[in-house]
Amino acid sequence: MLRNDQLEEWDRENFFHPSTHLAQFARGEIPQRIITGGSGVFIEDRDGNKLMDAFAGLYCVNVGYGRTEIAEAIAAQAKELAYYHSYVGHGTEASITLAKMILDRAPANMSKVYFGLGGSDANETNIKLVWYYNNILGRPEKKKIISRWRGYHGSGLMTGSLTGLELFHKKFDLPLSQVIHTEAPYYFRRPEAAMTEADFTAHCVAELEKLIEAEGADTIAAFIGEPVLGTGGIVPPPAGYWEAIQKVLKKHDILLIADEVVTGFGRLGTMFGSDHYGIEADIITIAKGLTSAYAPLSGSIVSDKVWKVLEAGTDEFGAIGHGWTYSAHPIGAAAGVANLRLIDSLGLVENAGTVGAYLNRAMTDALGDHANVGDIRGEGMLCAVEFVEDRDARRFFGAERKVGPSVAAALLKRGIIGRAMPQGDILGFAPPLCLTEDEADRIVAATHEAVTEVLG
Ligand SMILES: Cc1ncc(COP(=O)(O)O)c(C=O)c1O
Repeated sequence: MLRNDQLEEWDRENFFHPSTHLAQFARGEIPQRIITGGSGVFIEDRDGNKLMDAFAGLYCVNVGYGRTEIAEAIAAQAKELAYYHSYVGHGTEASITLAKMILDRAPANMSKVYFGLGGSDANETNIKLVWYYNNILGRPEKKKIISRWRGYHGSGLMTGSLTGLELFHKKFDLPLSQVIHTEAPYYFRRPEAAMTEADFTAHCVAELEKLIEAEGADTIAAFIGEPVLGTGGIVPPPAGYWEAIQKVLKKHDILLIADEVVTGFGRLGTMFGSDHYGIEADIITIAKGLTSAYAPLSGSIVSDKVWKVLEAGTDEFGAIGHGWTYSAHPIGAAAGVANLRLIDSLGLVENAGTVGAYLNRAMTDALGDHANVGDIRGEGMLCAVEFVEDRDARRFFGAERKVGPSVAAALLKRGIIGRAMPQGDILGFAPPLCLTEDEADRIVAATHEAVTEVLG
């Protein structure tokens, strides 16, 4: 293929990259990487470098790259019918089949799927549904949403507010006033070193109770949380957390939205994170792993309890005024159907559990004793290494030292993509669910070398 020598120039001149330091990029201080292909857990760039993608894009290419089964399903759908809308009772074979396949896999109390395009718009939908729900029930004051510090739920106006990371609020006039945040379930960063996991869970519960008390339960509509904190640092919850939190929510009649954009469809070694932690959500958010990112598609899975109220609401107030042109886009739906079939036929949910556990064990064996490694944690095919200046004192490095990004860069030199998580010196891994033990060994060996290079 003829090489376009101007591509790098066009990129800097025309392309507004998301989540990027714009000035540094414009000055050429951030390298460009133009990705041209992918196969299995590897991607390739235009310069011919082959990199192992141990973060599956943005933890979304769960079946791995280059799956022709999905590509062919997309092509066939595009040829047959690239688009028709799904308003007022319209559908396609792909979108109707996919809704059924999702509900066949979802927890038993779930009733319907609303389709969107990405995780952010799905969570926007969820908040609108929760508000509608409380208005139909005659509780117009019950509207606030509780999220957690370090939660990640998207970067729209409402979803950026739900996201509990400073970077997503600063200078954007967020969070909006309807959103309030509570303690992150982050045991390693517990307030008192002497706390056991059970103590810390009790602390998180007490903080939630305090917040509900201060705001008034009759003003709070819902609590949103990821089963495992993702972008906030890849943090599994302390023991007993979800059970205890759900008791509080039930007591105060607060709905639970489980944001399973990362954990849905196998990442934790179970179909949903809700199965893994015994979460009985009222709404479940799905995206990423639904199509393994072969096409954009998200969903809000709505429980029987919520659905009944929505249905009654439309009898009273008319059709629900909520829809996107591309809701249930046939190409996304065709990708979703092919992707879920592939996850089943390749046994990827199980593989995520076994190889994920292997990766976490091997990472702990290799780095658990390093003086600057404070915590190694994970669940299923998620793993994180957190760096500290002083282990005993749990003293963190100053952000200006850029320890996390430096280790990620040293790892990249060794051909492996990990992710420097945005808040703290945390190196994250979320490989495709088809990772093998040999590939896990390569990740661990390269991480050991990269950590040694940066921190000694
Ligand atoms: C848990 C969670 N929810 C929502 C989102 C937002 O999804 P999107 O980037 O597709 O809008 C993300 C993205 O990383 C996520 O991790």
